[in-house]
Amino acid sequence: MKNLKKITVNLKERSYGIYIANNQFNCLGRLLKESNIGNHAVIISNSKIKKLYNEKIVKTLSKSSIKNDFIEVPDSEKAKSVSCLSKVISKIARIDVRKRIFVIALGGGVIGDLSGFAAAVYKRGIPYVQVPTSLLAQVDSSIGGKVAVDLQYGKNLLGAFYQPRLVFSDVSTVSSLNLRQLKTGLAEVIKYGVITDSQLFRFIELNYHKILELDKEALSHIIIQSSRIKARVVSQDERETKGIRTILNFGHTIGHAIETASDYGKSYTHGEAIAIGMICASEIACRLKICNQKTLCRIESIISMIGLPIHIKNAPLEKIMPAYLHDKKFISGKNRFVLPVNIGKVIIREGISERLIKNVISQRIKK
Ligand SMILES: NC(=O)c1ccc[n+]([C@@H]2O[C@H](COP(=O)([O-])OP(=O)(O)OC[C@H]3O[C@@H](n4cnc5c(N)ncnc54)[C@H](O)[C@@H]3O)[C@@H](O)[C@H]2O)c1
Ligand SMILES: [Zn+2]
Repeated sequence: MKNLKKITVNLKERSYGIYIANNQFNCLGRLLKESNIGNHAVIISNSKIKKLYNEKIVKTLSKSSIKNDFIEVPDSEKAKSVSCLSKVISKIARIDVRKRIFVIALGGGVIGDLSGFAAAVYKRGIPYVQVPTSLLAQVDSSIGGKVAVDLQYGKNLLGAFYQPRLVFSDVSTVSSLNLRQLKTGLAEVIKYGVITDSQLFRFIELNYHKILELDKEALSHIIIQSSRIKARVVSQDERETKGIRTILNFGHTIGHAIETASDYGKSYTHGEAIAIGMICASEIACRLKICNQKTLCRIESIISMIGLPIHIKNAPLEKIMPAYLHDKKFISGKNRFVLPVNIGKVIIREGISERLIKNVISQRIKK
């Protein structure tokens, strides 16, 4: 298929392709048919995305003789709840009568995480594909098989590793995202630049205006590069047991705590919270003389130029610290941080002093 970029996630029998397209939804049906995934798709999405893209999906499925049903979920992190999961699974079961069904997760990271987890646990696993429509989902959450829903005690606590059969990212969907969501996705792209790709970081520094103006070439470039990085890291360390996948958590230890302390997504989107988390981690690295002031300045500057937050508002230290202590990233009681050495290289450090962490966070809180 012409102009489709394919990147492979290499996981032996669980390997799959990430197809990056530009306004080519018409290719999806054929890709699904060729992969022999099933003859009946259960599309999971919300009403906003349904309005924008479902017709295109249904058309391409019909052309390839794949039948379909639609399950609508709420448009917020609330969709990643046990009650919503249970409703989705009951609806899948109702549809699943003498058919080879599979799931299509059509939407942002919320839909991808929820639908992937439903597919993972229904009948001990049915096939699913990711059709990410937000920048964050295209560059990050749709790749790698981490699927989950939230519990009242924290985000993503009920989850699994369950790889999709394929990922289909159409760059054109990013144009209907609002600016805030676009910036949120960009935070993860900056993360990839810092952890492993100084050229990608430089590209964002030079081209962030174009990206924010939805220039197709600039967008395609960052989506392809980010997908390559995520695919490579996941291929080397699928289940985060070798310390390789851990680098993807850069900015996420403090970022998640800020997200939790500000009531998930109400004050900060995921990307906004990790933008601040990346600055905090870089500040810690700088104070420990792991990176120099220039590296910290470049990271803070690009975040600020894009218009992502660099200060913490609406989340007091008394709420952030307990949220941070509950984080999954603690290893036998010791905290674990991904810290930049320079742009393109990070190291993992355990047991960073609580005093230093508190100090760095409190300096970021805007009174
Ligand atoms: N599984 C992973 O590896 C992983 C990685 C990072 C984040 N996540 C999860 O992803 C979620 C965040 O994902 P997100 O930022 O995509 O949020 P989201 O799914 O809530 O999407 C953000 C908003 O944009 C809307 N939207 C999506 N695509 C659109 C489009 N093309 N046009 C217009 N509106 C569109 C959504 O309906 C929603 O209102 C969090 O739950 C986070 O925990 C998972
Ligand atoms: Zn993230």
